[in-house]
Amino acid sequence: MSDFQILDASRETAAAAHPKTFYLETFGCQMNVHDSEKVIGTLTQQGYQQVQTEEAADLILYNTCSIRDKAEQKVFNRLNDYKKLTAQGKRFGVLGCVAQQEGEKIFERAPYVSLVSGSASYRKLPEMLVRLELGEKRITGLDDRQTDETFETEFTARTNRHRGYITIIEGCDKFCAYCVVPYTRGKERSRTSTSVLAEAQRMADSGYTEIQLLGQNVNSYRDSEGKRSFAELLAAVGEIPGIRRVRFTTSHPRDFTPDIVQAIDAVPTLCDHVHLPVQSGSTDVLRMMQREYTREWYLERISWIKAAKRPISMTTDIIVGFPGETPQDFEETITLLAEVQYDAVFAFKYSPRPNTPAITMADSIPDETKSERLQILLDRQREIQRANYSNHIGQTLEVIVEGHNQARGQVIGRTSQNKTLNFTTGQPILPAAGSYLPVRVTKSFPNSLVGESVA
Ligand code: SAH
Ligand code: SF4
Ligand code: F3S
Repeated sequence: MSDFQILDASRETAAAAHPKTFYLETFGCQMNVHDSEKVIGTLTQQGYQQVQTEEAADLILYNTCSIRDKAEQKVFNRLNDYKKLTAQGKRFGVLGCVAQQEGEKIFERAPYVSLVSGSASYRKLPEMLVRLELGEKRITGLDDRQTDETFETEFTARTNRHRGYITIIEGCDKFCAYCVVPYTRGKERSRTSTSVLAEAQRMADSGYTEIQLLGQNVNSYRDSEGKRSFAELLAAVGEIPGIRRVRFTTSHPRDFTPDIVQAIDAVPTLCDHVHLPVQSGSTDVLRMMQREYTREWYLERISWIKAAKRPISMTTDIIVGFPGETPQDFEETITLLAEVQYDAVFAFKYSPRPNTPAITMADSIPDETKSERLQILLDRQREIQRANYSNHIGQTLEVIVEGHNQARGQVIGRTSQNKTLNFTTGQPILPAAGSYLPVRVTKSFPNSLVGESVA
């Protein structure tokens, strides 16, 4: 204990004399964005100061993504671009999914990197930072599927003052054939609902009105105290006084249960939007992907959502060109889009990934065909969205103000269904970010709405 105090005191003096600075750039999904907020909070707590450029920083950190090859290459390009800064004594750290996936190989590829840590080791960051300051050259945090621990910290540097993320479950145990996440994020582990609700309450107390619950498969949540199901946790967050909107992402079809829709029906603050990745409309491809559901099974979940009391907006993820996907399989994905009528589709060309079971299958669909299929899919989907979005014309929807588009003289709003609604107010003073207003929709595009605020 006394050693710890001495170390702490000397570090405070050092920090005061020469504030250590860091730069952090984030790639990847919302989980990574939120991890970065927690990493920034942790570093700040350790006496570091965040700066906005690599050049101004003592420590340069990249929080990386390896979901597709292109994402992975970004970090190596960045490291290459900035390695010249090592001459000035700057240190580099690679965090996140590429760090966990490549591990110590990163030191071989980029010898000037001093820290490599996957997300399952972030709880050890304070200790790793001390080792870095003592001059250690190769520090790793590569806890993998063994760990049961989650990264919880009260020092989260949230950038938005109105809307904030809370990670409720980390990792993934599903092992889809194409996906790196079970290897990069470790095994599935949930926080207690008590700790999630305490964090949500603290956020409400400090003025947040919108909470987004996060997890690779957010609805696979299992309260380690056994107090609440996922749907009960959703409802409990939605009932915290001051909280006006609750979102959750990403839901996995396997764990999508009717009580989630019932909770949305019962609790008005739960947003009317479900992101439910299907990946393919063909049962044969779903089997090869090891998704463990069929087209019909997925569509049954969609029918529950469509039967809700409020219209619930649905969005999805799709992979085109998975090994063995025939033109008929692809056509089944297209007919699925027409059947569900999604409000947004995030579609990707299949990218073979290290360590995954699918890497042993021949990447049999030529890139040209993948691109063609992607384009067909996006064209069809645009027409579906054009029709969906036009259905809002004449409706009055509540938006949260996200910002202003000075050039167009518009206020940028977001609806509960997660749609962008840009609007004018006719007033000289524009509403502040974070305020909620009713807006009448006057015009629509395939990806956004336009309207006028209702006095
Ligand atoms: N847990 C979520 C998905 C998280 S990954 C789920 O199972 O639904 C985000 C998206 O990236 C996936 O939905 C998938 O569409 C895409 N993706 C994952 N691995 C990929 C790969 N190897 N190639 C192309 N897209 C991939
Ligand atoms: Fe990846 Fe499948 Fe886990 Fe989603 S469920 S993160 S696609 S392995
Ligand atoms: Fe990328 Fe890791 Fe998220 S691979 S998508 S940053 S979980």
